[in-house]
Amino acid sequence: MGLILLGCGGHGRVLLSTLQGLGWMERLLGVLDPDPQRIMQQGCPAPLLGDDGYLARLPPPSVRLLNGIGSVRSTDKRRMVYQKLRQQGYAFAALIHPTAWLAESVSQAQGVQVMAAAVVQNGCQLGENVLLNTRAVVDHECLLQAHVHVATGAVLCGNVEVGEGAHIGAGATVIQGIRIGAGACIGAGAVVVRDVPPGATVVGVPAREC
Ligand SMILES: CC(C)(COP(=O)(O)OP(=O)(O)OC[C@H]1O[C@@H](n2cnc3c(N)ncnc32)[C@H](O)[C@@H]1OP(=O)(O)O)[C@@H](O)C(=O)NCCC(=O)NCCS
Repeated sequence: MGLILLGCGGHGRVLLSTLQGLGWMERLLGVLDPDPQRIMQQGCPAPLLGDDGYLARLPPPSVRLLNGIGSVRSTDKRRMVYQKLRQQGYAFAALIHPTAWLAESVSQAQGVQVMAAAVVQNGCQLGENVLLNTRAVVDHECLLQAHVHVATGAVLCGNVEVGEGAHIGAGATVIQGIRIGAGACIGAGAVVVRDVPPGATVVGVPAREC
């Protein structure tokens, strides 16, 4: 089935290279972005169809969507686009880069994205619209609720639970057994050794609320 990429900023472009790595570019019908000028400046290799309004021409059963919106702190925008279009009946494709490694027992909900060189170990559960970015490591029996983003190079040790929509910053490390609340933000490079409350932002080594 044909694919539509939503958003052609930084994360959208990572998805394009993932599609290329999978040999799926011919499945990509095109890209939707509210700023066509930006897409053209970036030399997007796929047809530019317009903004989200274009979807009205494509009934939900005819396409699968790819969420090209990333996050550097709040995952709200990525979550809102996903939920709005799910409510309209659209389905999101899963996208797993060919160099990512997932244990056979990993469960994945709809729209999960696992980027290049990421590793997901035995017994992990990935909720819908979860994004594991380039070289992220999610070790055994972690539970990631919907819309979580584990940014590039971040490491979750075993048995970590991450609440809905939390952002785990680039290069952060979360030690085993920690619980991170919904909507929390772990700063880049933080080392998390205590549970993090919902909505909190923590930075540093060891990570403290800021
Ligand atoms: C934690 C974070 C969200 C804070 O963002 P912010 O609220 O805009 O914070 P600011 O840049 O205004 O910095 C506020 C203070 O926190 C410090 N700080 C910010 N991020 C920090 C981090 N990751 N580690 C340690 N200190 C940090 C700043 O140095 C500054 O300190 P100061 O007041 O003494 O000068 C952000 O810096 C961050 O780490 N985001 C994650 C980015 C990421 O994961 N990108 C990958 C995308 S794939």
